[in-house]
Amino acid sequence: MSQVKTAYRSSIIQLVADPSEVGLDNAYRYFEDGLLVVENGIITHVGDYITTLASLNGEFEMVNYQDKIITAGFVDTHIHYPQTGMIASYGEQLLDWLENYTFPEEERFKDPEYAAKVAKIFLDELATNGTTTALVFGTVHKQSVDVFFQEAKRRNLRMIAGKVLMDRNAPDYLTDTPECGYQDSKELIEKWHDNGRLSYAVTPRFAPTSSPEQLDMVGKLLQEYPSVYMHTHLSENKQEIEWVKSLFPEREGYLDVYDHHGLLHPRSVFAHGVHLSDCECQRLSESGSAIAFCPTSNLFLGSGLFDLNRMEGFGVRVGMGTDVGAGTSFSLMQTMSEAYKIMQLQQKKLHPVKSLYQATLGGAKALYLDDKIGSLEVGKEADFVVLEPNATTLMKFRMQQAKTLEEKLFVLMSLGDDRTVHATYVYGDLAYRA
Ligand code: GUN
Ligand code: ZN
Repeated sequence: MSQVKTAYRSSIIQLVADPSEVGLDNAYRYFEDGLLVVENGIITHVGDYITTLASLNGEFEMVNYQDKIITAGFVDTHIHYPQTGMIASYGEQLLDWLENYTFPEEERFKDPEYAAKVAKIFLDELATNGTTTALVFGTVHKQSVDVFFQEAKRRNLRMIAGKVLMDRNAPDYLTDTPECGYQDSKELIEKWHDNGRLSYAVTPRFAPTSSPEQLDMVGKLLQEYPSVYMHTHLSENKQEIEWVKSLFPEREGYLDVYDHHGLLHPRSVFAHGVHLSDCECQRLSESGSAIAFCPTSNLFLGSGLFDLNRMEGFGVRVGMGTDVGAGTSFSLMQTMSEAYKIMQLQQKKLHPVKSLYQATLGGAKALYLDDKIGSLEVGKEADFVVLEPNATTLMKFRMQQAKTLEEKLFVLMSLGDDRTVHATYVYGDLAYRA
Protein backbone atom coordinates (compact mmCIF):
# COMPACT_ATOMS: atom_id res chain seq x y z
CA MET A 1 0.00 0.00 0.00
CA SER A 2 1.20 3.50 -0.81
CA GLN A 3 1.81 5.09 2.59
CA VAL A 4 3.27 8.35 1.32
CA LYS A 5 1.18 11.17 0.07
CA THR A 6 1.37 11.37 -3.73
CA ALA A 7 0.15 14.19 -5.96
CA TYR A 8 -0.58 13.52 -9.64
CA ARG A 9 -0.50 16.52 -11.97
CA SER A 10 -2.61 15.94 -15.07
CA SER A 11 -5.77 16.93 -16.84
CA ILE A 12 -8.53 15.49 -14.66
CA ILE A 13 -12.16 14.63 -15.47
CA GLN A 14 -14.30 14.34 -12.40
CA LEU A 15 -17.79 12.89 -12.98
CA VAL A 16 -20.14 13.84 -10.18
CA ALA A 17 -23.62 12.87 -11.37
CA ASP A 18 -25.63 11.27 -14.15
CA PRO A 19 -25.86 13.65 -17.14
CA SER A 20 -29.36 12.25 -17.84
CA GLU A 21 -30.46 13.52 -14.43
CA VAL A 22 -28.60 16.79 -13.92
CA GLY A 23 -27.70 17.84 -17.47
CA LEU A 24 -24.28 17.72 -19.07
CA ASP A 25 -22.83 20.84 -17.47
CA ASN A 26 -23.63 19.73 -13.94
CA ALA A 27 -22.47 16.16 -14.44
CA TYR A 28 -18.74 16.74 -14.50
CA ARG A 29 -15.86 19.04 -13.67
CA TYR A 30 -12.79 19.32 -15.84
CA PHE A 31 -9.44 20.54 -14.56
CA GLU A 32 -7.22 21.05 -17.57
CA ASP A 33 -4.21 21.51 -15.28
CA GLY A 34 -5.34 19.50 -12.28
CA LEU A 35 -3.97 17.81 -9.20
CA LEU A 36 -5.13 14.54 -7.65
CA VAL A 37 -3.73 13.75 -4.21
CA VAL A 38 -3.75 10.28 -2.70
CA GLU A 39 -2.77 9.10 0.75
CA ASN A 40 -2.99 5.52 2.06
CA GLY A 41 -5.09 4.51 -0.91
CA ILE A 42 -7.69 7.25 -0.45
CA ILE A 43 -8.23 10.45 -2.44
CA THR A 44 -7.56 13.43 -0.17
CA HIS A 45 -7.67 16.33 -2.66
CA VAL A 46 -8.74 16.93 -6.21
CA GLY A 47 -8.93 20.23 -8.05
CA ASP A 48 -7.03 22.64 -10.19
CA TYR A 49 -3.27 22.53 -9.84
CA ILE A 50 -2.51 25.92 -8.33
CA THR A 51 -5.15 26.07 -5.61
CA THR A 52 -4.87 22.41 -4.69
CA LEU A 53 -1.09 22.63 -4.43
CA ALA A 54 -1.40 25.68 -2.17
CA SER A 55 -3.69 23.76 0.17
CA LEU A 56 -1.24 20.88 0.67
CA ASN A 57 0.99 20.69 3.67
CA GLY A 58 3.66 18.24 4.75
CA GLU A 59 5.77 16.13 2.43
CA PHE A 60 4.52 14.55 -0.74
CA GLU A 61 5.78 13.00 -3.92
CA MET A 62 4.84 14.64 -7.22
CA VAL A 63 4.10 12.56 -10.32
CA ASN A 64 3.81 14.41 -13.60
CA TYR A 65 1.21 13.29 -16.17
CA GLN A 66 0.75 16.71 -17.70
CA ASP A 67 -0.08 15.64 -21.25
CA LYS A 68 -2.45 12.88 -20.05
CA ILE A 69 -6.02 12.71 -18.74
CA ILE A 70 -6.89 11.09 -15.42
CA THR A 71 -10.30 9.58 -14.85
CA ALA A 72 -11.78 7.11 -12.37
CA GLY A 73 -11.01 3.43 -13.01
CA PHE A 74 -13.50 1.64 -15.26
CA VAL A 75 -16.21 -0.56 -13.76
CA ASP A 76 -17.18 -3.69 -15.70
CA THR A 77 -20.53 -4.92 -14.39
CA HIS A 78 -20.55 -8.24 -16.24
CA ILE A 79 -17.67 -10.46 -17.35
CA HIS A 80 -16.63 -14.14 -17.31
CA TYR A 81 -13.01 -14.76 -16.37
CA PRO A 82 -13.10 -18.44 -17.49
CA GLN A 83 -14.01 -17.35 -21.02
CA THR A 84 -10.76 -15.48 -21.57
CA GLY A 85 -9.37 -18.43 -23.52
CA MET A 86 -12.30 -18.71 -25.93
CA ILE A 87 -13.05 -15.06 -26.70
CA ALA A 88 -13.72 -14.60 -30.43
CA SER A 89 -15.24 -18.02 -31.13
CA TYR A 90 -16.85 -18.15 -34.57
CA GLY A 91 -20.29 -18.58 -35.95
CA GLU A 92 -22.92 -19.20 -33.28
CA GLN A 93 -25.65 -17.43 -31.37
CA LEU A 94 -26.11 -17.84 -27.64
CA LEU A 95 -27.33 -21.41 -27.08
CA ASP A 96 -25.05 -23.13 -29.62
CA TRP A 97 -22.17 -20.87 -28.62
CA LEU A 98 -22.57 -22.08 -25.03
CA GLU A 99 -22.70 -25.72 -26.04
CA ASN A 100 -19.96 -25.72 -28.65
CA TYR A 101 -17.39 -23.37 -27.16
CA THR A 102 -18.18 -22.20 -23.63
CA PHE A 103 -18.97 -25.37 -21.73
CA PRO A 104 -15.93 -27.32 -23.00
CA GLU A 105 -13.61 -24.46 -22.02
CA GLU A 106 -15.24 -24.06 -18.61
CA GLU A 107 -14.63 -27.76 -17.90
CA ARG A 108 -10.92 -27.03 -17.80
CA PHE A 109 -11.44 -25.03 -14.60
CA LYS A 110 -11.81 -28.18 -12.57
CA ASP A 111 -8.02 -27.95 -12.54
CA PRO A 112 -7.12 -25.20 -10.05
CA GLU A 113 -3.72 -24.70 -11.69
CA TYR A 114 -5.31 -23.85 -15.02
CA ALA A 115 -7.86 -21.64 -13.24
CA ALA A 116 -5.08 -19.76 -11.42
CA LYS A 117 -3.18 -19.26 -14.66
CA VAL A 118 -6.25 -17.81 -16.42
CA ALA A 119 -7.14 -15.65 -13.39
CA LYS A 120 -3.71 -13.99 -13.69
CA ILE A 121 -4.02 -13.43 -17.42
CA PHE A 122 -7.54 -12.08 -16.92
CA LEU A 123 -6.62 -9.65 -14.14
CA ASP A 124 -3.58 -8.45 -16.11
CA GLU A 125 -5.91 -7.77 -19.02
CA LEU A 126 -8.29 -5.77 -16.83
CA ALA A 127 -5.39 -3.63 -15.58
CA THR A 128 -4.11 -3.09 -19.13
CA ASN A 129 -7.54 -1.80 -20.07
CA GLY A 130 -7.98 0.46 -17.05
CA THR A 131 -10.67 -1.65 -15.40
CA THR A 132 -10.33 -1.60 -11.63
CA THR A 133 -13.62 -3.19 -10.53
CA ALA A 134 -15.59 -6.01 -12.11
CA LEU A 135 -18.51 -8.31 -11.38
CA VAL A 136 -17.19 -11.68 -12.47
CA PHE A 137 -18.56 -15.13 -13.30
CA GLY A 138 -16.46 -18.13 -12.25
CA THR A 139 -17.33 -21.67 -13.34
CA VAL A 140 -19.34 -24.32 -11.50
CA HIS A 141 -16.11 -25.36 -9.75
CA LYS A 142 -15.72 -23.91 -6.28
CA GLN A 143 -11.94 -23.76 -6.68
CA SER A 144 -12.26 -21.55 -9.77
CA VAL A 145 -13.61 -18.81 -7.52
CA ASP A 146 -11.16 -19.54 -4.72
CA VAL A 147 -8.14 -18.99 -6.96
CA PHE A 148 -9.72 -15.94 -8.55
CA PHE A 149 -10.27 -14.27 -5.18
CA GLN A 150 -6.76 -15.19 -4.05
CA GLU A 151 -5.26 -13.43 -7.05
CA ALA A 152 -7.60 -10.42 -6.75
CA LYS A 153 -6.73 -10.10 -3.07
CA ARG A 154 -3.01 -10.20 -3.82
CA ARG A 155 -3.59 -7.24 -6.14
CA ASN A 156 -5.82 -5.44 -3.62
CA LEU A 157 -8.61 -5.12 -6.19
CA ARG A 158 -12.23 -4.30 -5.50
CA MET A 159 -13.82 -7.34 -7.16
CA ILE A 160 -17.09 -9.21 -6.94
CA ALA A 161 -17.29 -12.84 -8.07
CA GLY A 162 -19.15 -16.08 -7.57
CA LYS A 163 -19.35 -19.78 -8.37
CA VAL A 164 -21.77 -20.70 -11.14
CA LEU A 165 -24.85 -22.64 -10.05
CA MET A 166 -26.11 -24.98 -12.74
CA ASP A 167 -27.95 -28.24 -12.04
CA ARG A 168 -29.64 -29.08 -15.35
CA ASN A 169 -29.57 -28.60 -19.14
CA ALA A 170 -25.79 -28.59 -19.20
CA PRO A 171 -23.17 -31.34 -19.62
CA ASP A 172 -22.80 -33.65 -16.61
CA TYR A 173 -19.21 -32.55 -16.17
CA LEU A 174 -20.43 -29.02 -15.42
CA THR A 175 -23.43 -29.51 -13.16
CA ASP A 176 -23.83 -29.32 -9.41
CA THR A 177 -26.94 -30.06 -7.30
CA PRO A 178 -29.15 -27.68 -5.33
CA GLU A 179 -27.59 -28.92 -2.06
CA CYS A 180 -23.91 -28.91 -3.03
CA GLY A 181 -24.28 -25.65 -4.97
CA TYR A 182 -25.78 -24.12 -1.83
CA GLN A 183 -23.07 -25.54 0.42
CA ASP A 184 -20.18 -24.48 -1.83
CA SER A 185 -21.61 -20.98 -2.21
CA LYS A 186 -22.03 -20.70 1.54
CA GLU A 187 -18.42 -21.70 2.17
CA LEU A 188 -17.18 -19.21 -0.41
CA ILE A 189 -19.34 -16.45 1.09
CA GLU A 190 -17.98 -17.13 4.57
CA LYS A 191 -14.44 -17.05 3.23
CA TRP A 192 -14.53 -14.18 0.76
CA HIS A 193 -17.51 -11.87 1.19
CA ASP A 194 -16.39 -8.56 2.69
CA ASN A 195 -12.86 -9.95 2.86
CA GLY A 196 -10.92 -6.70 2.31
CA ARG A 197 -12.14 -5.23 -0.97
CA LEU A 198 -13.79 -8.45 -2.15
CA SER A 199 -17.49 -9.29 -2.28
CA TYR A 200 -19.42 -12.39 -3.20
CA ALA A 201 -22.16 -12.77 -5.82
CA VAL A 202 -24.48 -15.78 -5.77
CA THR A 203 -24.34 -16.76 -9.45
CA PRO A 204 -27.03 -18.95 -11.05
CA ARG A 205 -25.94 -19.08 -14.72
CA PHE A 206 -29.44 -18.37 -16.12
CA ALA A 207 -32.94 -19.73 -15.60
CA PRO A 208 -32.64 -22.64 -18.12
CA THR A 209 -29.73 -24.25 -16.27
CA SER A 210 -31.22 -24.15 -12.77
CA SER A 211 -34.10 -26.24 -11.47
CA PRO A 212 -36.79 -24.53 -9.36
CA GLU A 213 -35.18 -26.26 -6.35
CA GLN A 214 -31.84 -24.66 -7.10
CA LEU A 215 -33.43 -21.22 -7.58
CA ASP A 216 -35.08 -21.68 -4.18
CA MET A 217 -31.61 -22.26 -2.72
CA VAL A 218 -30.40 -19.02 -4.31
CA GLY A 219 -33.30 -17.17 -2.68
CA LYS A 220 -32.40 -18.80 0.62
CA LEU A 221 -28.76 -17.71 0.37
CA LEU A 222 -29.84 -14.15 -0.38
CA GLN A 223 -32.02 -14.14 2.71
CA GLU A 224 -29.26 -15.56 4.88
CA TYR A 225 -26.67 -13.11 3.53
CA PRO A 226 -28.52 -9.89 2.65
CA SER A 227 -25.36 -8.03 1.66
CA VAL A 228 -24.17 -10.47 -1.03
CA TYR A 229 -24.87 -9.84 -4.70
CA MET A 230 -26.95 -11.90 -7.11
CA HIS A 231 -25.55 -12.16 -10.64
CA THR A 232 -27.19 -13.87 -13.62
CA HIS A 233 -28.30 -13.49 -17.26
CA LEU A 234 -31.72 -12.31 -18.45
CA SER A 235 -33.58 -12.01 -21.80
CA GLU A 236 -30.52 -11.93 -24.01
CA ASN A 237 -31.66 -13.97 -26.99
CA LYS A 238 -35.11 -14.78 -28.43
CA GLN A 239 -34.61 -18.55 -28.54
CA GLU A 240 -33.43 -18.45 -24.95
CA ILE A 241 -36.59 -16.59 -23.92
CA GLU A 242 -38.82 -19.18 -25.63
CA TRP A 243 -36.88 -21.92 -23.86
CA VAL A 244 -37.47 -20.29 -20.47
CA LYS A 245 -41.20 -20.05 -21.23
CA SER A 246 -41.33 -23.78 -22.02
CA LEU A 247 -39.34 -24.71 -18.90
CA PHE A 248 -41.38 -22.52 -16.56
CA PRO A 249 -44.91 -22.42 -18.12
CA GLU A 250 -46.47 -21.44 -14.79
CA ARG A 251 -44.48 -18.17 -14.64
CA GLU A 252 -45.51 -14.94 -16.34
CA GLY A 253 -42.21 -14.45 -18.13
CA TYR A 254 -38.45 -14.67 -17.83
CA LEU A 255 -38.03 -12.08 -15.08
CA ASP A 256 -40.92 -13.58 -13.14
CA VAL A 257 -38.97 -16.84 -12.83
CA TYR A 258 -36.30 -15.01 -10.86
CA ASP A 259 -38.84 -12.88 -9.02
CA HIS A 260 -40.84 -15.91 -7.91
CA HIS A 261 -37.76 -17.38 -6.22
CA GLY A 262 -36.85 -14.14 -4.44
CA LEU A 263 -33.94 -13.14 -6.67
CA LEU A 264 -34.85 -9.49 -7.27
CA HIS A 265 -32.90 -7.30 -4.88
CA PRO A 266 -31.04 -4.01 -4.95
CA ARG A 267 -27.81 -5.96 -5.34
CA SER A 268 -29.08 -8.17 -8.15
CA VAL A 269 -27.38 -7.65 -11.49
CA PHE A 270 -28.92 -9.08 -14.65
CA ALA A 271 -26.75 -9.21 -17.74
CA HIS A 272 -28.36 -8.08 -21.04
CA GLY A 273 -32.14 -7.57 -20.67
CA VAL A 274 -32.29 -6.89 -24.40
CA HIS A 275 -35.87 -8.07 -24.90
CA LEU A 276 -37.85 -6.99 -21.83
CA SER A 277 -41.51 -5.96 -21.61
CA ASP A 278 -42.55 -2.68 -20.02
CA CYS A 279 -43.83 -4.59 -16.98
CA GLU A 280 -40.47 -6.30 -16.57
CA CYS A 281 -38.60 -2.99 -16.78
CA GLN A 282 -40.97 -1.56 -14.19
CA ARG A 283 -40.38 -4.49 -11.87
CA LEU A 284 -36.60 -4.19 -12.22
CA SER A 285 -36.86 -0.53 -11.37
CA GLU A 286 -38.98 -0.96 -8.24
CA SER A 287 -36.76 -3.78 -6.96
CA GLY A 288 -33.62 -1.65 -7.29
CA SER A 289 -31.95 -4.30 -9.44
CA ALA A 290 -29.50 -3.41 -12.20
CA ILE A 291 -28.99 -4.37 -15.83
CA ALA A 292 -25.53 -4.82 -17.32
CA PHE A 293 -25.57 -3.46 -20.87
CA CYS A 294 -23.11 -5.52 -22.93
CA PRO A 295 -22.85 -4.00 -26.41
CA THR A 296 -19.95 -5.95 -27.93
CA SER A 297 -21.51 -9.22 -26.78
CA ASN A 298 -25.00 -8.31 -28.03
CA LEU A 299 -23.55 -7.56 -31.46
CA PHE A 300 -21.17 -10.51 -31.56
CA LEU A 301 -23.84 -13.08 -30.66
CA GLY A 302 -26.47 -11.27 -32.73
CA SER A 303 -28.67 -10.95 -29.64
CA GLY A 304 -30.31 -7.62 -30.36
CA LEU A 305 -30.25 -3.89 -29.69
CA PHE A 306 -30.48 -2.74 -26.07
CA ASP A 307 -32.23 0.59 -25.57
CA LEU A 308 -30.42 2.44 -22.80
CA ASN A 309 -32.78 5.42 -22.90
CA ARG A 310 -35.86 3.24 -22.51
CA MET A 311 -34.36 1.41 -19.55
CA GLU A 312 -33.43 4.67 -17.88
CA GLY A 313 -36.92 5.99 -18.58
CA PHE A 314 -38.16 3.25 -16.26
CA GLY A 315 -35.58 4.27 -13.67
CA VAL A 316 -33.58 1.03 -13.95
CA ARG A 317 -29.93 1.19 -12.87
CA VAL A 318 -27.67 0.34 -15.79
CA GLY A 319 -23.97 -0.51 -15.75
CA MET A 320 -21.72 -1.42 -18.67
CA GLY A 321 -20.44 -4.94 -19.16
CA THR A 322 -17.87 -6.31 -21.57
CA ASP A 323 -19.26 -9.86 -21.17
CA VAL A 324 -15.97 -11.39 -22.31
CA GLY A 325 -15.89 -14.08 -23.86
CA ALA A 326 -19.14 -13.35 -25.76
CA GLY A 327 -17.98 -9.74 -25.69
CA THR A 328 -15.04 -9.08 -27.97
CA SER A 329 -13.03 -6.58 -25.94
CA PHE A 330 -11.85 -6.07 -22.37
CA SER A 331 -11.84 -2.34 -23.03
CA LEU A 332 -14.67 -0.26 -21.59
CA MET A 333 -13.71 2.37 -24.17
CA GLN A 334 -14.39 -0.06 -27.02
CA THR A 335 -17.53 -1.12 -25.19
CA MET A 336 -18.77 2.49 -25.13
CA SER A 337 -17.91 2.88 -28.79
CA GLU A 338 -20.12 -0.11 -29.64
CA ALA A 339 -22.85 1.21 -27.29
CA TYR A 340 -22.82 4.42 -29.31
CA LYS A 341 -23.38 2.43 -32.51
CA ILE A 342 -26.19 0.39 -30.94
CA MET A 343 -27.95 3.65 -30.02
CA GLN A 344 -27.32 5.01 -33.53
CA LEU A 345 -29.10 1.99 -35.00
CA GLN A 346 -32.11 3.07 -32.92
CA GLN A 347 -31.86 6.71 -34.05
CA LYS A 348 -30.59 7.78 -30.63
CA LYS A 349 -27.45 9.53 -29.44
CA LEU A 350 -25.05 8.56 -26.69
CA HIS A 351 -23.01 11.54 -25.54
CA PRO A 352 -19.35 10.91 -24.62
CA VAL A 353 -19.77 12.36 -21.13
CA LYS A 354 -22.72 10.04 -20.56
CA SER A 355 -20.57 7.19 -21.85
CA LEU A 356 -17.77 7.97 -19.44
CA TYR A 357 -20.34 8.21 -16.66
CA GLN A 358 -21.76 4.80 -17.59
CA ALA A 359 -18.32 3.21 -17.60
CA THR A 360 -17.37 4.62 -14.18
CA LEU A 361 -19.80 6.21 -11.72
CA GLY A 362 -22.90 4.68 -13.36
CA GLY A 363 -21.38 1.21 -12.99
CA ALA A 364 -20.48 1.92 -9.38
CA LYS A 365 -24.07 3.03 -8.73
CA ALA A 366 -25.47 -0.08 -10.38
CA LEU A 367 -23.35 -2.08 -7.92
CA TYR A 368 -24.18 0.16 -4.94
CA LEU A 369 -20.48 0.96 -4.61
CA ASP A 370 -20.65 4.67 -5.46
CA ASP A 371 -19.79 5.63 -1.89
CA LYS A 372 -16.41 3.94 -2.40
CA ILE A 373 -15.45 4.03 -6.08
CA GLY A 374 -16.55 5.28 -9.49
CA SER A 375 -15.40 8.91 -9.33
CA LEU A 376 -12.46 11.01 -8.24
CA GLU A 377 -13.94 12.49 -5.11
CA VAL A 378 -12.32 13.16 -1.76
CA GLY A 379 -12.73 10.19 0.57
CA LYS A 380 -13.15 7.63 -2.19
CA GLU A 381 -10.72 4.81 -2.92
CA ALA A 382 -7.96 5.83 -5.32
CA ASP A 383 -8.69 3.54 -8.28
CA PHE A 384 -7.88 5.58 -11.37
CA VAL A 385 -6.66 5.47 -14.95
CA VAL A 386 -4.19 7.70 -16.74
CA LEU A 387 -5.31 8.01 -20.36
CA GLU A 388 -3.03 8.85 -23.28
CA PRO A 389 -5.03 10.87 -25.82
CA ASN A 390 -2.20 10.68 -28.40
CA ALA A 391 -1.72 6.93 -28.23
CA THR A 392 -1.54 6.31 -31.98
CA THR A 393 -0.45 8.35 -34.97
CA LEU A 394 -4.05 8.66 -36.09
CA MET A 395 -5.28 9.72 -32.64
CA LYS A 396 -2.54 12.31 -32.36
CA PHE A 397 -3.51 13.80 -35.73
CA ARG A 398 -7.22 13.66 -34.96
CA MET A 399 -6.81 15.18 -31.49
CA GLN A 400 -5.20 18.27 -33.03
CA GLN A 401 -8.57 19.04 -34.61
CA ALA A 402 -10.55 18.38 -31.42
CA LYS A 403 -11.64 21.71 -29.99
CA THR A 404 -13.43 20.76 -26.79
CA LEU A 405 -12.93 18.21 -24.04
CA GLU A 406 -16.17 16.52 -25.10
CA GLU A 407 -14.91 16.12 -28.64
CA LYS A 408 -11.62 14.73 -27.32
CA LEU A 409 -13.49 12.27 -25.16
CA PHE A 410 -15.54 11.09 -28.10
CA VAL A 411 -12.42 10.52 -30.18
CA LEU A 412 -10.80 8.70 -27.25
CA MET A 413 -13.74 6.33 -27.02
CA SER A 414 -14.25 5.83 -30.72
CA LEU A 415 -10.60 5.11 -31.50
CA GLY A 416 -9.24 4.11 -28.10
CA ASP A 417 -8.67 0.78 -26.39
CA ASP A 418 -5.84 -0.62 -24.27
CA ARG A 419 -3.35 1.47 -26.27
CA THR A 420 -4.99 4.54 -24.78
CA VAL A 421 -4.34 3.40 -21.21
CA HIS A 422 -1.02 4.82 -20.03
CA ALA A 423 -1.28 3.66 -16.42
CA THR A 424 -3.74 2.10 -14.00
CA TYR A 425 -3.72 2.68 -10.24
CA VAL A 426 -5.41 0.43 -7.70
CA TYR A 427 -5.97 1.81 -4.21
CA GLY A 428 -3.23 4.34 -4.87
CA ASP A 429 -0.68 1.82 -6.13
CA LEU A 430 0.54 1.54 -9.70
CA ALA A 431 -0.95 -1.67 -11.12
CA TYR A 432 -0.05 -1.26 -14.78
CA ARG A 433 2.08 1.02 -16.89
CA ALA A 434 2.28 0.96 -20.69
N1 GUN B 1 -26.29 -17.01 -20.79
C1 GUN B 1 -25.97 -18.07 -20.02
N2 GUN B 1 -24.65 -18.23 -19.93
C2 GUN B 1 -24.09 -17.25 -20.66
C3 GUN B 1 -22.74 -16.90 -20.94
O1 GUN B 1 -21.78 -17.51 -20.50
N3 GUN B 1 -22.58 -15.80 -21.74
C4 GUN B 1 -23.61 -15.09 -22.23
N4 GUN B 1 -23.37 -14.03 -22.99
N5 GUN B 1 -24.88 -15.41 -21.97
C5 GUN B 1 -25.11 -16.48 -21.20
ZN1 ZN C 1 -22.40 -13.23 -19.63
